[in-house]
Amino acid sequence: MSKPPRETSPKEKNRKTKKISKKISINAKSVDSKPVDPRSALIDEKERLELARKLNRTRDDTKEIKLSKNIRNIDANSLRIMQYTNTIIIPPHLKSLESELSKERVSCSCKGDTCELEKCDHEPVYNYHGRLNDETLNFLRKEYNFIIHECNKGCECNSSCPNRVTQKGSTVQKEIFSTESMGLGVRTLEYVAKGTFIGRYTGRLLTFDESKNSSSHYMFEMDAASNASMDGNFSIDAARDGNITRLINHNCEPNLQTVSVRTEITHPKFHEVAFFTKRDINRGEELFITYGQDYFKASGLKCQCPSC
Ligand SMILES: C[S@@+](CC[C@H](N)C(=O)[O-])C[C@H]1O[C@@H](n2cnc3c(N)ncnc32)[C@H](O)[C@@H]1O
Ligand SMILES: [Zn+2]
Ligand SMILES: [Zn+2]
Ligand SMILES: [Zn+2]
Repeated sequence: MSKPPRETSPKEKNRKTKKISKKISINAKSVDSKPVDPRSALIDEKERLELARKLNRTRDDTKEIKLSKNIRNIDANSLRIMQYTNTIIIPPHLKSLESELSKERVSCSCKGDTCELEKCDHEPVYNYHGRLNDETLNFLRKEYNFIIHECNKGCECNSSCPNRVTQKGSTVQKEIFSTESMGLGVRTLEYVAKGTFIGRYTGRLLTFDESKNSSSHYMFEMDAASNASMDGNFSIDAARDGNITRLINHNCEPNLQTVSVRTEITHPKFHEVAFFTKRDINRGEELFITYGQDYFKASGLKCQCPSC
């Protein structure tokens, strides 16, 4: 299964934490000079609006991404450094791969503007409401290596085809907020039905070897296509370039399902990573994925999720 963020070493983490606290202690003086707990000092409204504008300048969500008024200074760095991207960026040294990556597609032979899910060559995983069907959701709980193939440029259908979901962006309105003990998190501002698409993980493409030596907290491995070996695999690093999905926290009982998807590219080691709701989710609930069993063991971090 795809596992995000490999943890930095405790030494590296301490170094980062120290840097942040130093900055905050300068900014966090109250008007009457009484000391303010730097952990709870909020960012000022001007910066909040600027960060919100930045988030929405380039986004793949169809609705505006909101930024809560509760964003603490200590959490905001994650947004300050973030460059929003709605694609997987192929860095210059991997450019030679680009032609190889974009050559192959798996297209269907349906004729007309939209496919009939039951008759399409692509395995039917969605219903006509654009949600994952129950059968697929149940299957995905056990079968991590399953890859969804959506219709693509090689198909005759257009964007109204029910087999095009993740490529159209999420329609769920979300808000970024400061959680109690996990830094920033993402919650939904509307009721979301089971099987709904929430977002795709974006960032910079890295080879597996590069990702092994990285201290990024925002690494997601494309391991659905790997079988036993990770050789030749890719990862997506959202440490700087990414989208709202890089802020989704871990829960031992997540309400989102991680799903591997292919659209234009059918390179054997490449797939996109998408998140769908595993159950109905109420307005205001935080969205969670699982980072995989090894994440907390390897990092030495204690899981602070509400289920622990
Ligand atoms: C991919 S980031 C998620 C967004 C992050 N909260 C932020 O503010 O940028 C992963 C980091 O979030 C925090 N985190 C996420 N889930 C957590 C959990 N269940 N328990 C403790 N920390 C968590 C950890 O600091 C982890 O390294
Ligand atoms: Zn189609
Ligand atoms: Zn089709
Ligand atoms: Zn098709």
